[in-house]
Amino acid sequence: MLQPTPASDLDRNVVETAYARWAPVYDKVCGPIFLSGRRSATSAAMQVGGRILEVGVGTGLSFGDYDGSTEIVGIDMCEPMVAKARERMASGLYPHVKDVMVMDAHELAFEDASFDCVVAQFVITLVANPERVLSECARVLRPGGEIILVNHLYSERGMLAVIERLAARPTRALGLRPEFPFGRLMAWAQNHGGVELVERRRVKPLGAYTLVRFRRIAAQAQAA
Ligand SMILES: C[S@@+](CC[C@H](N)C(=O)[O-])C[C@H]1O[C@@H](n2cnc3c(N)ncnc32)[C@H](O)[C@@H]1O
Repeated sequence: MLQPTPASDLDRNVVETAYARWAPVYDKVCGPIFLSGRRSATSAAMQVGGRILEVGVGTGLSFGDYDGSTEIVGIDMCEPMVAKARERMASGLYPHVKDVMVMDAHELAFEDASFDCVVAQFVITLVANPERVLSECARVLRPGGEIILVNHLYSERGMLAVIERLAARPTRALGLRPEFPFGRLMAWAQNHGGVELVERRRVKPLGAYTLVRFRRIAAQAQAA
């Protein structure tokens, strides 16, 4: 296995600036590229149902993937992306979307155990401190609830791994992180102790993305 280049996590200001630039064209350019990955996460979230938090909701492209049996709250730190999501929400087409807020995923302004499910599509590799964001996601999740992530993750071997390592630095200013390894998510889960991995699977197109599901362990199960 090729170890990823030890690159630091992305800088918050770089990511915020990158997505402020992406906002006007995001739906047209990134919408189709991320479609199948995004849908794999929303479909897994629909299985959990209930009150769902979308972390890094972006322009709200996923709103149409949920139905009225859910209540969606979205947060994103990038104001121009949130403005687009609010326009979408104001269309009246998505009454299940209850609120969209400017908020940093490192400090979620929600009560403990206040969501059934937390979804982050194409976000966790971009944040300045992924472990802290994951711990915040786990904190706001009820026992038995799920964190559902979808992302391109580091390929670990072969030509793709070489390309991802080479692309790591040049793509940072675009707000991309091709060399982020799955092992880092697992290391967080093991250190956290209050979550268990329930699924890791490749999703379309061509298995380029990975869907990862962690379940919040009920307190008594954790103590046992
Ligand atoms: C690649 S976009 C994904 C948007 C959306 N989830 C989708 O699938 O279309 C990444 C989003 O994460 C947001 N983001 C990055 N770091 C964040 C943070 N620390 N807190 C909240 N949002 C963040 C960015 O502003 C951007 O809107």
